[in-house]
Amino acid sequence: MLVLQPIPLNYVFGVAQSGVLMPDREWVSVPAPEGWMAGWGKVYKELLDTPEEELRDLNVSRVPRELERALKVAEINPSALDILELASGDGSVACYLAKLGATVEALDALEIAVEVTRRRAKALGLEERLTARLRSIDGWDIPHGKYDVIVALQCLQYLFDRAIPRTKEILEAIKPGGFFVYSGNILPHFETDPPIRFITREELQEMLEGWTLHSFGEDEILLKKDDLRGYIWVVARKPIG
Ligand SMILES: C[S@@+](CC[C@H](N)C(=O)[O-])C[C@H]1O[C@@H](n2cnc3c(N)ncnc32)[C@H](O)[C@@H]1O
Repeated sequence: MLVLQPIPLNYVFGVAQSGVLMPDREWVSVPAPEGWMAGWGKVYKELLDTPEEELRDLNVSRVPRELERALKVAEINPSALDILELASGDGSVACYLAKLGATVEALDALEIAVEVTRRRAKALGLEERLTARLRSIDGWDIPHGKYDVIVALQCLQYLFDRAIPRTKEILEAIKPGGFFVYSGNILPHFETDPPIRFITREELQEMLEGWTLHSFGEDEILLKKDDLRGYIWVVARKPIG
């Protein structure tokens, strides 16, 4: 059982169908519905019991690898970078970036995600370079021009009406010459309640006007029968001057 100390004031508790409080399903208050948070929490919980050698295997998607490629193109040494990853989930991307040499701050609203990320970082000997914290993406002042890189994969869409305003604040928090690393869903996607706030290609292009696009793509992937999902990603560099 996880013991949280101190417990933030805005804490809510995932409640199992039986009505029993599930201490391993705690999260900070976020706009995403309880069922979605509990679902992600369930996936991460399984990782807490995974042998350490499996946690060391960082099977990341193409987006962080696109960042690594962009850094090479821009001749930037990752070990000089301060990276913020928002909604870092199982911590594999945060560890991948820390393994490149960067200093990484990883945030997620789920206690279990933070726990798995710390466990993974420990298994990889990356604790000095990776800090995992329980925190929402939104609802706090993100310092202007602080980060070399901000990574936001499959998460900003769950802020609903705050998705676009918060994305703009996040972009402000990136230093001149720094990178924004993004992925999210677009149509086609099954209907959800509440509807996911898909951030479209046009909206990304508008927000990233003047930035250098190192990688910008869309995919449609049939995840299972009758479940074709659209994805969009971008790795973009903020103008230096
Ligand atoms: C689909 S998963 C994506 C995780 C990871 N970024 C990835 O790409 O594998 C969504 C994640 O967003 C987190 N999340 C959802 N809303 C959040 C919020 N407002 N603040 C912080 N984390 C949030 C969930 O806890 C979950 O870890």
